[in-house]
Amino acid sequence: MLSKKLDHVTPSYTIEISTKVSELKSQGTDIINLSIGEPDFFTPEQAKNKGLEAIRENRTKYNAAAGLKELRTAICDKLRKENSIYYELDEIVVSSGAKHSITNTLMALLDPGDEVIIPKPFWVSYSEMVKMVGAVPVYIETNKDNDFKLTSNELENAISPKTKLLLINNPSNPTGAIYTEAELRSIVNVALNNDIYILADEIYEKIRYTDKFTSIAALSDEAKEITITINGLSKSAAMTGWRVGYSASSKKIAKAISTIQGHLVSHPSTISQWTAYGALTLCQDDMAKMVDIYTERRDRAVSLLSKIDGISFINPKGAFYVFLDISSFKDKFNYKGSYSVEFCKRFLENYNVAIVPGIAFGIDDYVRIVYCADINDVEKGIIRLEEFIKSL
Ligand SMILES: Cc1ncc(COP(=O)(O)O)c(C=O)c1O
Repeated sequence: MLSKKLDHVTPSYTIEISTKVSELKSQGTDIINLSIGEPDFFTPEQAKNKGLEAIRENRTKYNAAAGLKELRTAICDKLRKENSIYYELDEIVVSSGAKHSITNTLMALLDPGDEVIIPKPFWVSYSEMVKMVGAVPVYIETNKDNDFKLTSNELENAISPKTKLLLINNPSNPTGAIYTEAELRSIVNVALNNDIYILADEIYEKIRYTDKFTSIAALSDEAKEITITINGLSKSAAMTGWRVGYSASSKKIAKAISTIQGHLVSHPSTISQWTAYGALTLCQDDMAKMVDIYTERRDRAVSLLSKIDGISFINPKGAFYVFLDISSFKDKFNYKGSYSVEFCKRFLENYNVAIVPGIAFGIDDYVRIVYCADINDVEKGIIRLEEFIKSL
């Protein structure tokens, strides 16, 4: 009855967990939720005021499919000032969240049977989005000793005549790793030599604990030509519910994305776009303050986690996640199917803490916890994790 495209598409593990958490909460259970990648901050006041102003001034009509001109101009300015990439207005398309920008891009580039390379661990939705447009995800095993960052050799080995696109998430959800400029250059060279596009998901770009960040499209004109840069306001400006993301790409790809978007949804809500405009043009300090707080939380989380025997992790340099290796407890569990799902289920049921199984990111020996939640919850959650592990 349903489209065959959905045959191998699985519902999002993270959304499934948050549904279970809401269910337990509605039954009166006090749950610590360290599963969802959503900032606990509110949208900055000046951004909200821009949205309210737009409502009051009746700026509520249909507008350009690619997004408000004012917002696209602000995005061009941001990319030029912060990332040293020179995009023009008609190379930017604003969509309903980075998720939507990614799906639009996949629809614009891929035909059924095209292969898309996805390094593991990957953000949960990549694989399913690729399948939904009829293309084929090809996963690459990366090395923990290299902080799970893709190398040019690994990429070279995964390329086939059907490869069309590489997905790179930098900084990474779930590991928090950040690629160096040299690492990105060698990856881009392989992509250029093999005629493949790169989708650079840089949604966590502003949330980082190091000074240096390189956007792939900033590497060279050739790199820019094959790269579709994805970014948005959900994480950096705590604007998850407003649904504003964007893509920056060559004119040809941007036009295709805008055409697709025009037919499917016209454009994202104009009110949300005005709020995003406010965030980009007026709220740099608010965003920087959030990062300062994430830094403190990261340091606290890392310090508590490093005291737990039997787990290991990469010290996150960006985003707000820690990806924990829990492989040493595997023989203590009876499970059918996924070990990490069983681990998270028992932890949630017995210790009332929600975290995400590594299988959702393609690696079953891991779990992911977030520190974009209240610091007291982060501390309590990690202490309970230690108790759980000791009880095994
Ligand atoms: C790597 C990555 N890309 C994209 C998104 C989606 O962002 P948005 O809320 O803007 O759609 C997320 C959200 O969790 C993410 O982790």
